[in-house]
Amino acid sequence: MAGTSRSPTFEWCPSPASTSSPPTLVRALPLATAQTRFVAFTLSTQPPTHSNGVAARAVDAVKVYGSGDMEVRALDGVNVEFERGKLSAIMGPSGSGKSTLMHCMAGLDNLTSGQTFIGDSELGLLNERSLTLLRRRNVGFIFQAYNLIPTLNASENMTLPLALGGQEPDTEWLERVVGIVKLGDRLNHRPKELSGGQQQRVAVARALVCKPEIIFADEPTGNLDSRAGAEILEFMRSTTDELGQTIVLVTHDAVAASYSDRVVFLADGKIVDELHNPSVEALLDRTKTLGD
Ligand SMILES: Nc1ncnc2c1ncn2[C@@H]1O[C@H](COP(=O)(O)OP(=O)(O)OP(=O)(O)O)[C@@H](O)[C@H]1O
Ligand SMILES: [Mg+2]
Repeated sequence: MAGTSRSPTFEWCPSPASTSSPPTLVRALPLATAQTRFVAFTLSTQPPTHSNGVAARAVDAVKVYGSGDMEVRALDGVNVEFERGKLSAIMGPSGSGKSTLMHCMAGLDNLTSGQTFIGDSELGLLNERSLTLLRRRNVGFIFQAYNLIPTLNASENMTLPLALGGQEPDTEWLERVVGIVKLGDRLNHRPKELSGGQQQRVAVARALVCKPEIIFADEPTGNLDSRAGAEILEFMRSTTDELGQTIVLVTHDAVAASYSDRVVFLADGKIVDELHNPSVEALLDRTKTLGD
């Protein structure tokens, strides 16, 4: 599968490809067009050499799409670490490689060269089954395009990753998550019966109910109004502060990024800067100079 995108078909918790009797509806999930966004991490111009305290990292990460005149160097030697228990953000102009970086770090896509790690596990060394299990157990992913299963209601969508792994939901935690995303009265509705913002909240809840070691989110509040977006961001912030949840978030929104402990800036496939505990003003200033 080298050089091709691993179709992000709901494998981060459940993996249809690796189970002996994969649910048909999951295999049919159209995730190939999914975009991504979300992260918190640590930036370095030097290759990281350790994983202690680091939830995920990339070492000399290069991703080239196409060849010849069509070649696009989406990642051009990225070295980055995302600290455990932190809310991190990735910002940068459109096309700078944010989604590509998150897909590669979450094991949804392959690098052209370099390494990515979740904890101590180097993703490029894992076979497909091991990678699927690692994604299922350790990684949550919130796609920009939600990627909910149309035939399942909101509640079933939220708990599907657990169900496919043969796990029962932690009822107390599930109720808390449902309360935060304010979907208690929509649990029996299917995606087509929900607004875009409600579908987004189901997708956020789905990543949270698994309690993964790390959550990657690609513009998780991009389709929400500012109040709903703030509620999700505050919840993410509190899961990091109170439960040590590691989150990496991609966003174009300076207000969303300001919730993070650290913001890393990508431009032309390279990390060019970082800010710690940034204010909205500082983020707006920095993104202006990057052309975002
Ligand atoms: N499957 C692909 N084939 C060819 N080029 C691709 C592919 N996916 C992404 N690219 C290119 O790689 C570069 C980085 O894309 P990526 O989606 O990572 O950017 P991004 O920073 O997430 O942008 P946005 O903010 O618009 O979502 C872009 O030039 C994009 O056109
Ligand atoms: Mg993107």
